[in-house]
Amino acid sequence: MTEALPKVLISEDAIRDKVAELAATISAAYEGVDDLFLIGVLKGSFIFLADLSRRLTIPRSVDFMALSTYGNATSTDGAVRMIMDLRRSIKGRHVLVVEDIVDTGFTLDYLLRNLAARQPASLKTCALVRKPDRAKIEISIDYLGFDIPDEWVVGCGLDWAEKYRTLPYIGVVHPE
Ligand code: IMP
Ligand code: MG
Repeated sequence: MTEALPKVLISEDAIRDKVAELAATISAAYEGVDDLFLIGVLKGSFIFLADLSRRLTIPRSVDFMALSTYGNATSTDGAVRMIMDLRRSIKGRHVLVVEDIVDTGFTLDYLLRNLAARQPASLKTCALVRKPDRAKIEISIDYLGFDIPDEWVVGCGLDWAEKYRTLPYIGVVHPE
């Protein structure tokens, strides 16, 4: 028997349009900046960052960090640790952090405090989706794709126990 695919929450077309819109907004906002430094948070951001970065019309570079929250798959107590750091200094650079999802906000809060200490010229955030009902920390997201309800979502880099990351749409799974 083949497994049923996750129910569509945000279609592939809607995501494509939103990524194009975000890329246009970001390109306009950073007009004149000689090298925007995009930081993707692994693993989840790899697809969104690939799509977004290719649509930017300004000079840009890409690097990655890997973070992990302690705890099990669908809940966390807020403790974050770094698994992989950037390869180069961001001092004096214009930095845009690109995230797949902002849930409680603990991950992005940790990351922003960590990166701010490295004295970038500017530090902003972009996220494909956010779950406003789950926020535990107020974080402003400068460039946001979609607000979504409090459900476990997959696709476009987001996984459920490593499954469904490469689905082309954002779908909902209901863990048993
Ligand atoms: P935070 O709670 O904002 O710190 O987010 C922690 C991490 O949990 C995110 O970076 C994702 O990796 C993961 N996460 C939270 N909600 C979802 C979801 O609905 N689907 C897939 N991953 C999620
Ligand atoms: Mg993530």
